[in-house]
Amino acid sequence: MSAIVGKRDLILADPYNHSSLKNGAILSGATVLEYAHCNVEVLKEMLERDRANYRRCLILTDSVFSMDGDLCPLPQLLDLADRFDAMLLLDEAHATGVLGKTGAGCVEYFGCTGRPLIQMGTLSKAIASLGGYVAGSAALIDFLRNRAPSWIYTTGLSPADTTAALTAIHIIQQEPDRRTQLWQNIRWLKQSLIQNSKFKIQNSKFKIPSPLPTQSPILCLPVDTPATALNLGKTLQQAGIFVSAVRPPTVPTSRLRLTVMATHQPDHLQQLINALRDIGCC
Ligand SMILES: Cc1ncc(COP(=O)(O)O)c(C=O)c1O
Repeated sequence: MSAIVGKRDLILADPYNHSSLKNGAILSGATVLEYAHCNVEVLKEMLERDRANYRRCLILTDSVFSMDGDLCPLPQLLDLADRFDAMLLLDEAHATGVLGKTGAGCVEYFGCTGRPLIQMGTLSKAIASLGGYVAGSAALIDFLRNRAPSWIYTTGLSPADTTAALTAIHIIQQEPDRRTQLWQNIRWLKQSLIQNSKFKIQNSKFKIPSPLPTQSPILCLPVDTPATALNLGKTLQQAGIFVSAVRPPTVPTSRLRLTVMATHQPDHLQQLINALRDIGCC
């Protein structure tokens, strides 16, 4: 980010972006303004009001939001970027290997391949290695290779991590059944959560929103307080299930964050539903 924008520039960012994007934006020295989550109308108003006052403008968004599992409105964001002469940087961390026909991410899922954008992601989620990538036009990549200090003045990835990442990419391309299995698991779990959508917790009830506001393997169960989230996380862990209890200030409201995998067997998913029922299904 600090290679492409600076003091005379504007960053318009989704407030639910990952911390690394937020900190990268601050480090760039650009003016950073946040638009309402996924709200293209608000973003348009901000572009109309502010764009002309800055040299360059960068729209910044996660593709799959890491704490809610919802997707950014990519086609509309690209239209706005085009209309207001802005760049768009998309963090595909949770979409790589998961979304799109070949697992190429949200860009492929929305049919936006080839549209001008800065597509970046990590090699640390579905790819299960370390490091990250940036994809874009040849001019952009050439520019970053010559102007991004975080690329120039750092040691490259280790051969082992690189080989692991390349092998994972090969598997993603060659074994689409894994992705099919993942999406079957996601659908099954979503459906079961909706069917069992009233759970009683410590004398209070919460209702799982129906349908769950997610379009990814990240499924969230909202809970009333941070303490409830922690307690439920512990109880589930004792039942052999790892579910992260996510609380403010990481997110505005507390929730249990479920992450579905391709390798989960039907038994595993049923075990989760049973454990949630045991906690206090109505
Ligand atoms: C959306 C998003 N972007 C970036 C990152 C950072 O990834 P890494 O840990 O591979 O640097 C994460 C990690 O949690 C993430 O969720």
